[in-house]
Amino acid sequence: MSVIVKKGKISAIPHTEFYAVEKVLALEEIHGTYGFSGPYTRKLHVRAYPTEQLQPPVKADYDLVSRVALVDVLQPYHILSSEVPFEACPMKSRKPILFGTSTIISISKPVHSMSPNTFFRNGEKHEAYYVQDGTGELKTEYGSISFRKGLYLIIPKGTIYQIELTSKNAYFLIMESIYPVEFPPHYMNKAGQATLMAPVVETEIDVPMFQEPIDKSGEYFIDIKHDGGHVTRLTLDHHPFDIAGWEGAVYPFGFDIKNHHGIAREIHTAPPVHQTFQAGNVPFNGISICSFVSQMEGWHPKDVAAPFAHSNVDSDEVMFFSSSDYGAREGVIKEGSITFHPGSIPHSPHGDSALRSMNDRGKMNKRLAVMVDTYFESIRVTDHGYKYSDKDYSMSWYKAKSKIGSR
Ligand SMILES: [Fe+2]
Repeated sequence: MSVIVKKGKISAIPHTEFYAVEKVLALEEIHGTYGFSGPYTRKLHVRAYPTEQLQPPVKADYDLVSRVALVDVLQPYHILSSEVPFEACPMKSRKPILFGTSTIISISKPVHSMSPNTFFRNGEKHEAYYVQDGTGELKTEYGSISFRKGLYLIIPKGTIYQIELTSKNAYFLIMESIYPVEFPPHYMNKAGQATLMAPVVETEIDVPMFQEPIDKSGEYFIDIKHDGGHVTRLTLDHHPFDIAGWEGAVYPFGFDIKNHHGIAREIHTAPPVHQTFQAGNVPFNGISICSFVSQMEGWHPKDVAAPFAHSNVDSDEVMFFSSSDYGAREGVIKEGSITFHPGSIPHSPHGDSALRSMNDRGKMNKRLAVMVDTYFESIRVTDHGYKYSDKDYSMSWYKAKSKIGSR
């Protein structure tokens, strides 16, 4: 993140003597990216290194491996995440739906919190959660972030965290990338602020609320995701939230989708205008995360508000419909629907939505959706994704056209 944050107590000069507890030397740790050349954060542990394991590592009793669906034909997909069951804790409920070489899209619909002595660390990818429903706390070594519907939670690779629910269940879309998730660099000026023309403001983030260090010994489990979704359990002899203070650019943060301040144009605007985050060097690799928020449709007297058919050949496109209100897919998608349109084939609005959209010129739409576009990365449907898919989706454009009788 472009905003450098400092929390708690930390030595003024890096790598120098510091005592959070009298006569106990605090121990420094760097949480770094891009091989010590990228953004990093300096943390000070009260008295223990994060390496002190009470017993040898073991395989966890679950994994998060993406297994490709048996049906492997090139086609658009419509996956009904509303039909994925609510079950288990946030990690054991997590189901990969779509995946590629550097990206994974999952759904998690937990019914209870993680147990107090169990933590998670994604050791292979950076994460962006989108909270479709539920409330609770993302508790991390950097502090806590309260979450609610419509919040993005950006969690850097390597962050130790726990999810505690305060609602009876929760519903998360989880986007993972091998690259850090950040505001698009082209939105930022030389000082690291979002420009005055950007749809985001870099200070409109929820920074973790610092918690006093937990200086406690005991038995604490860290489930680490690695090597394509395998999970290994480490057992530490002390509580992992033992940070006296930290300072840096790598930390989890929240960003409300409603803080994406949509930019409208007289005529239809292509999706890059909806970009909130990116991971990687977009548009050459990685992903864009776009927020389709309520905004005014084009006001040109001849504007056709519905998007054009598109062959976006270098991108596979995933849309998550937080609301069912979406003109171009009216009558096809439901709340929680995920559409996956591979770049190898074109896709378009359904039925007569182009015609209908001419009535919407200059009016506010009510949509709420999140889109992930990959760049030069093909993604595939997993067994979970296929299980909850609408098997007739590839025929839905033909059926919608037939229904309005213009064929
Ligand atoms: Fe599209």
